[in-house]
Amino acid sequence: MAAGSDLTPFQMENGIGPITEAVTLGPVNQAQADEGKALFESKCSACHKLGERYVGPPLGGILDRVTAAFAMNMMLNPQEMYTRHPVVKELLGQYMTQMPDLALTQEQARAVVEYLRTTPPPAPAE
Ligand code: HEC
Repeated sequence: MAAGSDLTPFQMENGIGPITEAVTLGPVNQAQADEGKALFESKCSACHKLGERYVGPPLGGILDRVTAAFAMNMMLNPQEMYTRHPVVKELLGQYMTQMPDLALTQEQARAVVEYLRTTPPPAPAE
């Protein structure tokens, strides 16, 4: 069976998990982004940097690369993402660490997305 052929087109684009509708992004909500930054620092920065590879992939500018729903499903349902989503399976192969379930609420995951929207992408590799 081809990689990901058991997933719907929605799941390929937006991931697998509790977020089952596309998340629309409006203008940046700075208060929500500030809350997301604090969450990022306490829950994510042990494994993720913005501008370079660490335990996991760099997350700066990630919302230019994946949808908000995809990022939220990764935060809320990592195990199924690295087990079933071909793109994340590939990342697991590269990073050799399983992203843990961090027990975030949907609101917290949405706040982290708001913060990550405000971050610049990593500099291109030399
Ligand atoms: C214990 C380490 C660890 C923690 C903590 C962690 N992650 Fe991850 N994350 C990973 C690894 C490793 C991957 C690559 C997939 C895999 O191997 O499971 C990943 C993948 C991702 C991806 C997919 C990236 C891409 O390029 O598609 C996103 C988005 C993500 N993490 C967001 C977060 C956020 C946001 C937090 C905090 C709420 C977080 N992660 C906490 C290790 C971690």
